[in-house]
Amino acid sequence: MYLQAYFIIVLSTVLVKTTDPDQCRCEDKVNACIIRDGSPGANGLPGRDGFPGPKGEKGEQGLRGVQGPPGKAGPPGLKGDHGPTGEKGSPGTCDDSELELLKTQMKALQAELQTVKEEVTKIVKAQPVPNGTRVGEKTFQTDGSKGGYEVAQSKCVQAGRVLASPRNALENDALREIVRTHNTRAMLGINDRLIEGTFKYPDGETIGYTNWSKNEPNDASGEDDAGGEDCVELFGNGKWNDVPCSHERLIICEY
Ligand code: GLC
Ligand code: CA
Ligand code: CA
Repeated sequence: MYLQAYFIIVLSTVLVKTTDPDQCRCEDKVNACIIRDGSPGANGLPGRDGFPGPKGEKGEQGLRGVQGPPGKAGPPGLKGDHGPTGEKGSPGTCDDSELELLKTQMKALQAELQTVKEEVTKIVKAQPVPNGTRVGEKTFQTDGSKGGYEVAQSKCVQAGRVLASPRNALENDALREIVRTHNTRAMLGINDRLIEGTFKYPDGETIGYTNWSKNEPNDASGEDDAGGEDCVELFGNGKWNDVPCSHERLIICEY
């Protein structure tokens, strides 16, 4: 019973659907529209996008961009030339044992130097010449006469020599021996007649060795010599004192 009723319902539904005017074929529908001449329908949906247009013209140059990060370091360059030699550094410290060793060596050297000096002096003393002494390459001689600087110097020059000037301790010692022998001070060739305070040898060379007595030279101007003291006398102890050039002293020449 139910099954029959169901079929009837389904069949009638199908019949209704097939007889519905909206379910007819398209041609029928178009013909039906023309016939009807109704009001226009609503706009359809927008169509699909068209094809891309042609490439546009090249644009103007853009603004300069911000600076990029620094690049990687390049390969090392060629070795440069040697720089100038630097200043000498301050002396380093050495330990006590090194210092002691140096002190010992220094004492030994001083002792050896003293021996050599004494030997040299003996050799020098062992070379007397008539009225004088030979010291190395230099010979000092005196005839025992005295005079002021001008007289003394001209006497020596006349003999093809010059007034004696000690240039080192050995020469000074040799002159001191002559002074002791004659028991009178000698006039040296050294003087500051040209430039006050600058003592030179007769040849104009500034002196390189001195043996001034204490507080000399003082250019003291005596009562009889307002010109100060521009000549030099040698004492029996070997020391020097500047005196007025007019003072008469033992004339010792050298060659
Ligand atoms: C005194 C001074 C000396 C000076 C001398 C002059 O001895 O100490 O410097 O040269 O008199 O005669
Ligand atoms: Ca002087
Ligand atoms: Ca003096």
